[in-house]
Amino acid sequence: MQLEGILSEKTIVIMGVANKNSIAWGCTKAIMDQGAKVVLTYQNDRIKKSLNKIVDDSIALVECDVSEDANIEKAFKQIKDKFGKVDGIIHAIAFADKETLEGGVLNTKKEGYNLAQDVSAYSLIAVSRYGAEIMNEKGSIVTLTYFGSTRAIPNYNMMGIAKASLESSVRYLASDLGDRHIRVNAISAGAIKTLAVTGIKHHRDLLKESQSRTVDGENVSTSEVGNVAAFLVSDMATGVTGDVIYVDKGVHLI
Ligand SMILES: NC(=O)c1ccc[n+]([C@@H]2O[C@H](COP(=O)([O-])OP(=O)(O)OC[C@H]3O[C@@H](n4cnc5c(N)ncnc54)[C@H](O)[C@@H]3O)[C@@H](O)[C@H]2O)c1
Repeated sequence: MQLEGILSEKTIVIMGVANKNSIAWGCTKAIMDQGAKVVLTYQNDRIKKSLNKIVDDSIALVECDVSEDANIEKAFKQIKDKFGKVDGIIHAIAFADKETLEGGVLNTKKEGYNLAQDVSAYSLIAVSRYGAEIMNEKGSIVTLTYFGSTRAIPNYNMMGIAKASLESSVRYLASDLGDRHIRVNAISAGAIKTLAVTGIKHHRDLLKESQSRTVDGENVSTSEVGNVAAFLVSDMATGVTGDVIYVDKGVHLI
């Protein structure tokens, strides 16, 4: 049974749930709580197995490894065929290989640079292109970023460069899709312990430092990020596009 809420009658595609700690899972719960139907995309069979432990039959699963455009095109076609048009997309995907992440920007090799940009930034462009084709008017695309895009955060390295590119893509995509009344925004989330974060060298220090800089001394939660994602894909946010909304309890300000 679908609940009444600011997302009643809407269908939202959520890309990037790996497990119950994922930011995308916080988004899934918040978006379902507001009455939307959700479709989750997953990277591969290993992730699908993990998802099967946390989802029930009310949540549809579609495979989509974003490293190939053809996979993205196919996934959105499948979604259109099975569920009709959609109203929103959450893109919560990033990847850099260990050597690139840990080696420091100065030692970043071309392959590592390209892979991180490809999966973490370019994929938003391809997702927006194919996603917009099956999107209703007033549709909304939301991606996840981190403020290592504008500051040299210790050990964030190549991912900071990819996030800068991602945030710039948000502005250009918002402009390109404006006449179709489709909005594109990013949420800059505070540090949260997820699978992706454990790939960052000394991630415990990053999480601790971040926590010490929040206004209340507590890290932001995936459900707090999810609630803002729910707002951004709703019609309550039709005036917001091309923007980066910080959900980090003030870390970037202080
Ligand atoms: N955790 C944090 O502190 C934090 C802070 C700000 C922003 N973010 C961003 O939030 C997003 C979600 O990350 P998370 O922290 O929830 O970690 P997570 O590990 O739970 O999620 C990352 C997801 O990316 C997916 N992914 C990686 N390569 C892919 C590919 N080729 N095709 C399809 N999917 C692929 C993984 O399967 C996984 O589901 C990322 O963009 C991350 O950079 C995280």
